[in-house]
Amino acid sequence: MSSTSQRTLVLLKPDAVARGLIGEIVSRIERKANWRIAAMELRTLDTATLEQHYAEHVGKPFYEPLMGFMSSGPSVAMIVEGESVIEGIRVLAGKTNPLEAGPGTIRGDFATITRENLIHASDSEESAAREIKIFFPAHA
Ligand code: PPS
Repeated sequence: MSSTSQRTLVLLKPDAVARGLIGEIVSRIERKANWRIAAMELRTLDTATLEQHYAEHVGKPFYEPLMGFMSSGPSVAMIVEGESVIEGIRVLAGKTNPLEAGPGTIRGDFATITRENLIHASDSEESAAREIKIFFPAHA
């Protein structure tokens, strides 16, 4: 059987922290076999960090609401590593719009609107490398 160990950048967004869902979400991640949290920090994200992180979305209609929301309170930034973790965390998170996210997913179980969708996870190996460098330069 082939093995694909990867690293990904995960953010538990301000709504997850404000609603006391850190433990619930971290627990779902930790319970997956062959994954581990390699770095984790609670921090309020500043504009410079968010501008880098969301650079590809500048000019989109949701950019300003997204930036405002993401700087509205503390988030938890994590590096998660392990088997097929990039796609795996996105499956665990569910679709961006919580109304389209299936039951059993984080967004499907706990969220109702796209802005407050609890979790960000890198969408490719390239994004993961770029985002880990932004949030955890010492681990890049
Ligand atoms: S795109 O254009 O398809 O790449 O965009 P998408 O992947 O759907 O979303 C990119 C990120 O923007 C967030 N988003 C929003 N935030 C606030 N308000 C609204 N209306 C909104 N629509 C999309 C979405 O959750 C994605 O955030 P991340 O952090 O990447 O999950």
